Amino acid sequence: MNQHFDSILKSGTVVNQDGEGVRDIGIKGGRIAAIGSLGQASAGEVIDCKGLHILPGVMDTQVHFREPGLTQKEDLETGSRSAVMGGVTAVFEMPNTNPLTVTEAAFTDKVKRGRHRMHCDFAFFIGGTRENVQDLPELERAPGCAGVKVFIGSSTGALLVEDDESLRRIFQVIRRRAAFHAEDEHRLNERKPLRIENDPRSHPVWRDETAALMATERLVNLARETGKRIHVLHISTKEEILYLRDHKDVASCEATPHHLTMAAPECYERLGTLAQMNPPVRSADHRAGIWYGIEQGIIDVLGSDHAPHTLEEKAKAYPASPSGMTGVQTLVPLMLDHVNAGRLSLARLVDLTSAGPARLFNIACKGRIAAGYDADFTVVDLKRGETITNQWIASRAGWTPYDGVRVQGWPVGTFVRGKRVMWQGELATPSTGEPVRFLETLKP
Ligand code: DOR
Repeated sequence: MNQHFDSILKSGTVVNQDGEGVRDIGIKGGRIAAIGSLGQASAGEVIDCKGLHILPGVMDTQVHFREPGLTQKEDLETGSRSAVMGGVTAVFEMPNTNPLTVTEAAFTDKVKRGRHRMHCDFAFFIGGTRENVQDLPELERAPGCAGVKVFIGSSTGALLVEDDESLRRIFQVIRRRAAFHAEDEHRLNERKPLRIENDPRSHPVWRDETAALMATERLVNLARETGKRIHVLHISTKEEILYLRDHKDVASCEATPHHLTMAAPECYERLGTLAQMNPPVRSADHRAGIWYGIEQGIIDVLGSDHAPHTLEEKAKAYPASPSGMTGVQTLVPLMLDHVNAGRLSLARLVDLTSAGPARLFNIACKGRIAAGYDADFTVVDLKRGETITNQWIASRAGWTPYDGVRVQGWPVGTFVRGKRVMWQGELATPSTGEPVRFLETLKP
């Protein structure tokens, strides 16, 4: 058979549901057309991937890109540029923008802003509030919607639903898996006096492990009572891992690279407010607990929680300093470094960043390297050593807490629906990002 493809990725080590092996991938019309030995086939372009690993496109299921309203920190173009420079092919973006993404108009506006301006594919969460609860069944099924996101403890922005009665009403009306920022607002308020002026080491003392566990337990109870599924974002404690192990039927969960990489108090001593995040980075003991969750399969996905603030904003004295750090661009390099250090396998990384998101969120045609699926790939060089620097960060915020950190393993190519968006650090334009399609949001 004399096949012709738009392009062929030649001789890369493909990591997919079939294990790991050297194969060619033929791409046609933005989709994977064939996997195997394609030496006899012709193609518009042949890209040599010898010595490189080809992973299914990495999906970062938690980023804050700040548009509209907070674009001094980031916008959809700069945030997605940062994503593809770091090997990320799709992002799920959060609703704590200004205005908040809580109405159909705000949601549709974001999709319009993102289309062919973002460099990667994208979905937006819709914020769940007391006021929009009756609209959520319709809103959560809008094309491009990743589901409902609820903050049950306050963080950046004005989204907050802290009481069980209001949460119950949200649970009752929605059908899709909803995502939660789980820190107990009542406990956070009680403990505010524990914050020490100018000392971010007091951040995890204020927002302690009990606040996180209490919130997660409340959410699991509500999920059981109402027969719904929850996704607990950015797990920060070992107690939540052990608790969620017994509730996997109703609860999925996410870990972040910063909770897996940093530890208190060292990170606050070295980085000050740059290490300030919600929920906080905690002791090495908690970090080990989250790694246990990776090893045991309890964690379903990784999300960077990319939450950019300007250096001027971060320079305010704690606790006036905002919580958040960049992360979408450093997710892949940091995790490849962990792979090279033997902390997880490449197969488990793919499970966390491709197969996991597809399984939890019912994504159509992404998350695996299979014929008929979108030709989304993260091409990595496991042998390449690099130093992460602020200069490399494409986010408008322009900084990373990992400035100067040496890693082993580097993203060298990003393909989105067959288009080579980034190759060896060069960005290709124009941008052609489109909404991710979900099984629940496909048009009839
Ligand atoms: O530290 C954080 N910053 N945690 C969040 O949940 C929100 C985020 C932000 O938007 O700045």
